[in-house]
Amino acid sequence: MPPAFRNLALLVLTFLFVPAHSWGHAGHEIVGYIADQLLDESDESGASSFVNEVLSNSTLQDVANWADTITKTEPWSLPLHFINVQVCDDDSCVFVPSRDCHGNTCVSGAVNNYTQRTLAQHSETLFDDLKFLTHFVGDIHQPLHCAKDADKGGNTIKPIYYDVTDQGSEFSLHQIWDFGIIENVMAEEYNGDVTTYGDYLLSLIQTDFSDEVEDWKCDTVSESTCAESWGQESVDTAMKYAYLDMQGNEIESEYEVEEDYAKTNRNVIEKRLAMGGVRLANIIELIISKK
Ligand SMILES: *[C@@H]1O[C@H](CO)[C@@H](O)[C@H](O)[C@H]1NC(C)=O
Ligand SMILES: *[C@@H]1O[C@H](CO)[C@@H](O)[C@H](O)[C@H]1NC(C)=O
Ligand SMILES: [Zn+2]
Repeated sequence: MPPAFRNLALLVLTFLFVPAHSWGHAGHEIVGYIADQLLDESDESGASSFVNEVLSNSTLQDVANWADTITKTEPWSLPLHFINVQVCDDDSCVFVPSRDCHGNTCVSGAVNNYTQRTLAQHSETLFDDLKFLTHFVGDIHQPLHCAKDADKGGNTIKPIYYDVTDQGSEFSLHQIWDFGIIENVMAEEYNGDVTTYGDYLLSLIQTDFSDEVEDWKCDTVSESTCAESWGQESVDTAMKYAYLDMQGNEIESEYEVEEDYAKTNRNVIEKRLAMGGVRLANIIELIISKK
């Protein structure tokens, strides 16, 4: 194949196989941005200077997607991006860590691991540890990252015909939750801008969510965090919203996503992003308070 065609073929392949192990870029950046802003607001704790120092003046937003860029060279890290619950039926889907997270090799285990590692401040790995922590706190809040093993968190439910701005219309259910709904809302209402959208979510934290925000936070980082229950929250959210159409029927391959589905679930996603940002900031503050 002449090089020009080879490049074209590669480009097409790249678009066909969008990696499916994360909120998209925007989702992770938004979680990082919310945490950055919350830490800046409460800077007397020193958390924001700690982040600045560890990340050599980068922000949590800047580093939030790094963990997805190394899954090929560091394949051991791939299972740390999700939880696949092995036994689920229509009424019940319960995350059992001993069964679904062997050796802590899943996203709740990773949140706990990188919290402990950031707390311990191993000088050689602290930079990576904080980047991993930032990413995994994001992933654990994407409902389909903690969902049924049978369909790999909605990855095998496809194609779902759903137009994503500039990205075509053939996506798995998982991808619609990773980035589809978010990208469309951002394009239509926020000029495609992560920080403007993030500012809107920060304003919800001050208003609509303000009564709940304290309850979102975990009160300890000593041995583990609340990551296992955050994983179960995602499972519950996936079962209640992601897997069901507006009539309450299970979504299957060939399903055409209705506008109502995107509209309703946009709110669900926004709350999960806000929770991720609040909890990431909170973990870092607790880590600082132990220094
Ligand atoms: C970070 O920013 C501070 C203040 O602007 C500067 O003094 C320092 O050299 C920067 N550190 C790095 C690693 O870029
Ligand atoms: C914990 O972090 C270390 C260092 O990155 C890594 O080798 C190990 O696989 C991690 N384990 C989990 C469960 O995250
Ligand atoms: Zn990920």
